[in-house]
Amino acid sequence: MEKFYALGFDVYGTLVDPLAMAEPLRALVGEQADRFAELWRSKQLEYSFRRGLMRRYVDFDACTRQALRFTQQTLRCELPESDRDRLLEAYLYLPLFPEVAASLTALKAQGHRLVAFSNGVEASIRALLANAGVLPYLEDVVSVDDLRTFKPDPAVYEYLVRRTGRAPAETWLVSSNAWDVIGAKATGLRAVWVKRHVETVFDPWEVEPDLVVSGLDELAAGFARPPG
Ligand code: LAC
Repeated sequence: MEKFYALGFDVYGTLVDPLAMAEPLRALVGEQADRFAELWRSKQLEYSFRRGLMRRYVDFDACTRQALRFTQQTLRCELPESDRDRLLEAYLYLPLFPEVAASLTALKAQGHRLVAFSNGVEASIRALLANAGVLPYLEDVVSVDDLRTFKPDPAVYEYLVRRTGRAPAETWLVSSNAWDVIGAKATGLRAVWVKRHVETVFDPWEVEPDLVVSGLDELAAGFARPPG
């Protein structure tokens, strides 16, 4: 029997590559560009986790902005405000991972319901996915901003389920972020871990993904024979 799922796609790191910020950074900070992009991304996430725990919400764009300032101060490469603004603008033009567009097309054609599900602000995610050309494949954009908290707060995964209108066990999170997969599983959803690099380690907690794939193309191939 054919089975159709609701698939909630994490955005940063799963559909688009936040570390691609190293490209525009190279002209500004030279050989520090890769380190800068990595520290910026990890601080952005840390800020979202801490804000969630402290219940001192500011939106993800603000986390990104504050993490940028932290990073430039830490690496001692102070940037003028105009460069900071340009970098934040470039964040709306992050590139897709190469297999994403074709894989979303295939998954949609299989009859699954595809939605974006992100810590990002809805308007920013819509702009980002429109610039990347994949917004039309997604039926909805579900943002944690509506709840003023962040992944992995269980409330946001419950919200995804409510928004898709499917049972938790028929709602899959698709994410390259292990902590996101664990958050979804802990709330009763199913979850695919997109292990984009062989060396990436899944957190050794008491939770496992339902499925591990190296890219969304493998997911599309696997869901052509649904896991039941
Ligand atoms: C997202 C970030 C956390 O939710 O990857 O899109």
